[in-house]
Amino acid sequence: MATQTATDIPRTSFLFRKPAVPAAGLPPLRRTSQFRRACRSWLFPYLRSRLAANEFRPVLSFFYTDLNCNLSCSYCYSRGRNIPGMSWETACAAVEWLERQGCRVLAYMGGEPLVRKPFVVELTRLAAEKGFFVYLPTNGILMDRDFIDAIGEAGVAAVNLAVDAMDGYAGIPKNLKRILPQFEYLVQQEKRYGYHTFLNINITGKNVDDVMALTETAHRYGIATDYHISEPPPIDYEGFDPGETDVWIRESQVDAVDELIDWLIAKNRAGYTMVNSIAHLEAMKRFIRRKLPRWPCRAGRVSMVIRLDGSFAPCFEYYASEEDWGDIRRGPRFDEERLERLKARCSPGCLSTCNFQVSHYSQSWLRSLQWVAKHAYSQFFGVS
Ligand SMILES: C[S@@+](CC[C@H](N)C(=O)[O-])C[C@H]1O[C@@H](n2cnc3c(N)ncnc32)[C@H](O)[C@@H]1O
Ligand code: SF4
Ligand code: SF4
Repeated sequence: MATQTATDIPRTSFLFRKPAVPAAGLPPLRRTSQFRRACRSWLFPYLRSRLAANEFRPVLSFFYTDLNCNLSCSYCYSRGRNIPGMSWETACAAVEWLERQGCRVLAYMGGEPLVRKPFVVELTRLAAEKGFFVYLPTNGILMDRDFIDAIGEAGVAAVNLAVDAMDGYAGIPKNLKRILPQFEYLVQQEKRYGYHTFLNINITGKNVDDVMALTETAHRYGIATDYHISEPPPIDYEGFDPGETDVWIRESQVDAVDELIDWLIAKNRAGYTMVNSIAHLEAMKRFIRRKLPRWPCRAGRVSMVIRLDGSFAPCFEYYASEEDWGDIRRGPRFDEERLERLKARCSPGCLSTCNFQVSHYSQSWLRSLQWVAKHAYSQFFGVS
């Protein structure tokens, strides 16, 4: 594919205006503090988990405070819920449990965490005071200046703004135009509060041009990007029919998505900051052709999910699993053999961005050091 430039990309007028916050390199002092934070939250817990290989010591926890959401994305099997969120007692007990296990990365998940903004601010404060790296994914719509200041003061470490298009369209409601003022304020306040912002983009069969435009926009604002590839769930989700959804990548769309991924790989090599490793982007090319081999997913070992009631699941994809994986009161039930049987079935049909990165960077001590160095020298700190 010929190298595309921003001028080849379909125009949306606001994309080409000068960013309110120009891109800037990290000053040396900030790099040092990012490096310390990366060691504290990622490297040391990871090394401890390697040293105590017989104990359950997750490095990264996905923490569901709410399944409810203000949007309805076509690919999302969490959509359409209206159920009570996690209680404050469960949230505190879960953070304490994670702390005892040596985990220091708390990544909110949902649903949309901002449907209960005060809850998320207070929980972030509690976790950040205990030394957790707190990561907040959001569709950004409920975000306003007061919230950005409150969550910044509470000590959030990364805000992952999920947008799939420049302008929204049927089934793809998360778009940058809708949240531009919040986005600009969020980027503007990064230095004041010391968090990172990055764009989280889900690649579907419908948004190839938008993915390019969002990538260029993020680059112009000096922030990183993080890509998912939309995929049907491995188990049934009540109220979600994968057959009714038109965002999975169809055979007729494979070439266009393939070209997009080549373009992303070229941008990655050209220095655009991306959470995804090149290995993950290359795996996407096999995934869309349904030729992904089994890969060594570390869900239920290095990463885990805490559900609304304090029970556990191995990963986002198995949120609705009815098997008993343990909970914060009884402890984990992540039996290695059971996990291995599960992954033999599901991993060829799954390309979880988070777990693929975890698997890639936890394969050796050298790779885990690379992960830390990546955080110290680039402007992102992503986990999704
Ligand atoms: C479930 S959302 C929760 C947080 C927030 N509401 C958001 O949209 O970021 C977290 C991430 O999961 C991704 N996601 C949801 N359904 C997916 C699917 N079927 N395949 C791949 N990624 C998916 C979304 O794009 C989003 O980036
Ligand atoms: S992907 Fe996020 S914003 Fe979209 S419906 Fe799911 S939870 Fe809501
Ligand atoms: S491969 Fe890993 S992340 Fe994907 S569904 Fe299976 S256990 Fe979950």
